[in-house]
Amino acid sequence: MEKLPATSFCLLSCVLVLFLSSVSAVTDDPQDKQVYIVYMGSLPSGKEYTPMSHHMSILQEITGESSIEDRLVRSYKRSFNGFAARLSQPERERMAEMEGVVSVFRSKKLQLQTTASWDFMGLKEGNKTKRNPAVESDTIIGVLDIGIWPESESFSDKGFGPPPKKWKGVCSGGKNFTCNNKLIGARDYTGEGTRDLDGHGSHTASTAAGNAVAGASFFGIGNGTARGGVPAARIAAYKVCNSTDCTDDAVLSAFDDAIADGVDFISISLGGEALKYEEDTTAIGAFHAMAKGILTVNSAGNSGPSPTTVSSVAPWILTVAASTTNREFLTKVVIQNGKTLAGRSVNAFDLQEKNYPLVFSLPEVKGNDIFVSRYSYGSDVAVATIINDYTHFATINPRPLSALSPDDYNFLLSYVKSTKSPQGTVLKTEAVFNQKAPKVASFSSRGPNPIAVDLLKPDITAPGVEILAAFSPLGSPSEDRQRDQRHVKYSVITGTSMACPHVTGVAAYIKTFHPDWSPAVIQSAIMTTAWSMNASDTGFTSTEFAYGAGHVDPIAALNPGLVYELDKADHITFLCGLNYTSKILRLITGEAVTCTGNTLPRNLNYPSMSAKLSGTNSSFTVTFNRTVTNVGIPNSTYKSMIVLNQGSKLNVEVTPNVLSMKSVKEKQSFTVTVSGSNIDPKLPSSASLIWSDGIHKVRSPIVVYTYIPDSI
Ligand SMILES: *[C@@H]1O[C@H](CO)[C@@H](O)[C@H](O)[C@H]1NC(C)=O
Ligand SMILES: *[C@@H]1O[C@H](CO)[C@@H](O)[C@H](O)[C@H]1NC(C)=O
Ligand SMILES: *[C@@H]1O[C@H](CO)[C@@H](O)[C@H](O)[C@H]1NC(C)=O
Ligand SMILES: *[C@@H]1O[C@H](CO)[C@@H](O)[C@H](O)[C@H]1NC(C)=O
Ligand SMILES: *[C@@H]1O[C@H](CO)[C@@H](O)[C@H](O)[C@H]1NC(C)=O
Ligand SMILES: *[C@@H]1O[C@H](CO)[C@@H](O)[C@H](O)[C@H]1NC(C)=O
Ligand SMILES: *[C@@H]1O[C@H](CO)[C@@H](O)[C@H](O)[C@H]1NC(C)=O
Ligand SMILES: *[C@@H]1O[C@H](CO)[C@@H](O)[C@H](O)[C@H]1NC(C)=O
Ligand SMILES: *[C@@H]1O[C@H](CO)[C@@H](O)[C@H](O)[C@H]1NC(C)=O
Repeated sequence: MEKLPATSFCLLSCVLVLFLSSVSAVTDDPQDKQVYIVYMGSLPSGKEYTPMSHHMSILQEITGESSIEDRLVRSYKRSFNGFAARLSQPERERMAEMEGVVSVFRSKKLQLQTTASWDFMGLKEGNKTKRNPAVESDTIIGVLDIGIWPESESFSDKGFGPPPKKWKGVCSGGKNFTCNNKLIGARDYTGEGTRDLDGHGSHTASTAAGNAVAGASFFGIGNGTARGGVPAARIAAYKVCNSTDCTDDAVLSAFDDAIADGVDFISISLGGEALKYEEDTTAIGAFHAMAKGILTVNSAGNSGPSPTTVSSVAPWILTVAASTTNREFLTKVVIQNGKTLAGRSVNAFDLQEKNYPLVFSLPEVKGNDIFVSRYSYGSDVAVATIINDYTHFATINPRPLSALSPDDYNFLLSYVKSTKSPQGTVLKTEAVFNQKAPKVASFSSRGPNPIAVDLLKPDITAPGVEILAAFSPLGSPSEDRQRDQRHVKYSVITGTSMACPHVTGVAAYIKTFHPDWSPAVIQSAIMTTAWSMNASDTGFTSTEFAYGAGHVDPIAALNPGLVYELDKADHITFLCGLNYTSKILRLITGEAVTCTGNTLPRNLNYPSMSAKLSGTNSSFTVTFNRTVTNVGIPNSTYKSMIVLNQGSKLNVEVTPNVLSMKSVKEKQSFTVTVSGSNIDPKLPSSASLIWSDGIHKVRSPIVVYTYIPDSI
């Protein structure tokens, strides 16, 4: 799950531990059986092909066993072809050689990674935003997550008619799980039922498409109307995670089903490490979704701010980074001498502004003290804890807590040490206006893209910090059920997991006005109309590798003017450029593919442009070929403009630099030539290309880089 651990004392290290534990080593015993995914690409056309029996016969041949019930874990047979099976190492090797097999890879574990956020993005409440209610009501969002809480008000079907006719899914959420006309589908791949026992799944689903629910808050904190981007849309929940694991084989099954069930969008706030496309289940599933006109939106990952940490790397996926909104939560510490320090946390406990002794030595802490400590380890005996662990975002904790910046913490500590009977208190959290928003969060995973070095990822950033949305009453708001007995219907979570469904909601909102737009056109509209961003002052370097094209702007994305179109064939050409063999390409696409010429991956008609240069300190010239399609005013003339980012010494030329369009859907091509020398080896050099007709601004980031060291 791409959310962050609630306990602030181990923020970065916890994430690291989660990541390390996910790549548990393959055991050396060749007879030891692991679950492998045998990916076989597209379903062959023709009625005579029966995937299940093919899967079983391959498995029988490889294992030499006639009874393979305990070997076959899952079959993928509705939207693409393949299966998951328990195999030994030698069996795996033989399997990889079989006719019809694209790849065989370990089924790994993935992590799951108010709503003021929509106002912040300009999508106002109620009739202040123009909507297309009939189409919105026919839109279905598939959410692959840890389940959903069907009784949440966010998923009530008050005012909803029957499911759209195109819906072919089911409600099989297990015992005591009922769907309705809002939550129209549920499937479970974990064996524990689709009910959300954690909170993460209800949170992401309600952010994308939850009803508008007034008076939602976490014990009064963040009180307001919680709502999704498309409140009239329907939700189908696919539970791919249990309380401990999300597995690749389950994720692939959920894609197989969701595509066949008839969803319009897939939102997946999950990730692991960046993988080659043919071994990345999200990329495989999303490729087949794209071929059916379904856009997949995925979180970038929570492993920032180190470079090369982005885990969602395919061009047919919209990859989302996390940033702040103009609302942040502060938990003030008031010292008896009158000084107030602004700490962080989501603290619903009310100490009634009463002063308590401040104690920094653990053995001396008693029930009537506030413990002042570097970390939150320590005394549950104390009334409250004040820690030195300012993490750029507020977390919910089982006990009253405020996290101070190092300066404030040191100030407090010297006060405590130099004062006879130091006293103070921790206040209840208040929401304040954050005028520095949006800034990309430190934890949000960064590029460059380790799999396709000339494809910029993440694509876009969206609100992912301190987001209030629906929760499961069985989940623990602080992820510490032992110490925290609170049960809530709405809670505050932070992570790229929370940013992802915001963009899913925006994509669905756009499609309600442009039902004929393909996934790539929607992605282009979102990227080229994004708010431009620049270097952050949060203490972490923020570049296009953090925010991609910038911050999502739902209203501007409705009217992009020009778009960069892409279809399945273009993505295949891109894979050809990455030197995929034509045999594998045929299996993936389900048709014969001949890679012609040697089209460079950077000439994919993507809304951003990026190139890794081979050497430093030398002069270079790179070109990007692009084609735009007019979706704006029929008769319009666009002129190009280049905006160099601060410190950039690039020379950028656009040919032609004027595009005259005569009709809608007209296409025109151009070439961008970027040259320079001795560019900074530590940072990307970047610029923006803007095509403008005086009404629209169609902006694409241009990024070139050499080597990005491990620590920026
Ligand atoms: C918008 O909603 C408000 C409050 O529900 C209502 O008073 C107003 O008439 C509505 N405006 C339009 C244009 O529908
Ligand atoms: C079904 O689940 C709801 C929500 O947890 C609970 O209130 C209800 O008691 C359950 N009913 C049964 C029969 O288990
Ligand atoms: C939330 O705000 C509404 C309207 O301002 C108010 O009626 C309600 O009591 C508030 N709820 C909480 C828990 O503060
Ligand atoms: C979760 O699923 C994994 C993989 O299927 C399994 O090994 C694990 O035991 C499950 N955990 C629980 C708590 O059921
Ligand atoms: C960064 O972006 C902000 C907001 O768009 C803008 O006000 C500011 O001038 C920019 N700073 C630089 C150095 O470009
Ligand atoms: C693909 O192969 C060509 C020819 O061998 C090589 O020049 C190119 O660098 C390779 N591309 C990638 C992405 O590996
Ligand atoms: C490369 O360029 C950098 C900065 O321009 C300079 O510090 C470095 O000495 C150069 N290295 C070589 C090998 O020329
Ligand atoms: C890119 O565009 C230029 C100029 O139109 C053209 O000469 C070149 O062949 C194009 N390259 C590719 C790979 O399409
Ligand atoms: C298109 O624009 C040109 C230049 O502004 C103008 O001369 C022409 O009449 C326009 N054509 C139409 C069909 O509007």
